[in-house]
Amino acid sequence: MTEPAYLRITRASYDTVAADYAEILRTELGHRPLDRAMLAAFVELVQASDAGPVADIGCGPGRVTGHLQSLGLTARGIDLSPEMIAVARRTHPDLRFDVGSMNALDLEDGSLGGIIAWYSIIHTPPELLPASWRRWPRSRVIMRRTRLGPPVGRPTCAGPAPQREPGHVTCLHVLPPPP
Ligand SMILES: C[S@@+](CC[C@H](N)C(=O)[O-])C[C@H]1O[C@@H](n2cnc3c(N)ncnc32)[C@H](O)[C@@H]1O
Repeated sequence: MTEPAYLRITRASYDTVAADYAEILRTELGHRPLDRAMLAAFVELVQASDAGPVADIGCGPGRVTGHLQSLGLTARGIDLSPEMIAVARRTHPDLRFDVGSMNALDLEDGSLGGIIAWYSIIHTPPELLPASWRRWPRSRVIMRRTRLGPPVGRPTCAGPAPQREPGHVTCLHVLPPPP
């Protein structure tokens, strides 16, 4: 089956910028108390459900994967871009990272306690997102962080000036524990 153009473009773009992206965002979480608070809430919910490891889907260089691991979760990362995965493996040699698409995850329902997609759904055309999400394994806690505004496009490593920074939104889904 032919791969959709948006996936080819996204992969090629992130392959090109992987090293710069990793360097520019290396300390970003340290300046984002609200982001850290949301990630801490994700960790707490996963730990409360005692439901197993988590996957960081569209993990890029693994900065969020590493942060979640440092907060006590067992975290792995999956990304479309082989170069991003290479950077993630070099940066976090103790963690598992795999090349893969969020549209074709080879993961069983219930195999994960949580899924996080931190700014990685932004390159999927909005009309394709529901079908993509239906292919994610059923998990107790799912957090998706994205940007408001035009969702699809090439990545840039030109750090956004604060006044141009778009709005952000985070969706959190928590399933009740099994009876
Ligand atoms: C803006 S970066 C965010 C990376 C990381 N989550 C972070 O916050 O640093 C978007 C990432 O999503 C990945 N990505 C985009 N579409 C994807 C898909 N369909 N499946 C897996 N990864 C994807 C890209 O390769 C890229 O590494």
